[in-house]
Amino acid sequence: MIKISPSVLACDFTKFGMEVQKVEDAGAELLHLDVMDGMFVPNISFGPDIIHCVRAQSKMIFDVHLMIMDPIRYIDKFIAAGADIITIHYESCDNPKEVLEKIRAAGKKASISIKPATPASVLKPLLPYVDMVLIMTVEPGFGGQKFMMQTMESVRALYEMVRESGYTIDIQVDGGINTETAAIAAAAGANVLVAGSSVFGAKDAAKAVSDIRKAAENAYPVS
Ligand code: DX5
Ligand code: ZN
Repeated sequence: MIKISPSVLACDFTKFGMEVQKVEDAGAELLHLDVMDGMFVPNISFGPDIIHCVRAQSKMIFDVHLMIMDPIRYIDKFIAAGADIITIHYESCDNPKEVLEKIRAAGKKASISIKPATPASVLKPLLPYVDMVLIMTVEPGFGGQKFMMQTMESVRALYEMVRESGYTIDIQVDGGINTETAAIAAAAGANVLVAGSSVFGAKDAAKAVSDIRKAAENAYPVS
């Protein structure tokens, strides 16, 4: 099943609550919350207190993307803030398995992400510990960047790896997703699509969500 996760990084933060409501009304299943620490990525966004503020207002699945160093330090805080899924970066810690197990032990969904240059093969030993894998389709740090076509190789490799493993694992893509790239990513095996600019920048968010969904549904699974 295709799921859409609008990234709030592209929303109008002067109306944060209303923007979240808008994408919930638009039919998005997940809300993508990008947390950046200015160390793992060269940008700073927001932390658990802001997530806690909107948690009470929304029934969406909170999909928290941690672009921070040593994420184990903050797992408890993001769970208390209302995260349902927590994605950590493979490149951000020495022992990703330990962090993933901590997330699952708290009853939440655990997810791991790789940057475009990291080979998908590093994910294989971690598949037993994850509910989702995020293949970054841009360099993490900023919204509004161009989709990197070469990352599709990792999506295809991961799709095969997951199929062979027998586990049920969602494959998420994040960065530069619009109707065109959603179809490309879905054809490669991605079923959870993060979209920032193409949803929050659209005149009609509901149409944007539904157009991205349709494009992906028509292309999935791997052709
Ligand atoms: C980038 C973030 C993305 C970003 C996506 O580091 O992880 O979630 O907000 O934004 P768009 O869809 O505009 O590329
Ligand atoms: Zn993200």
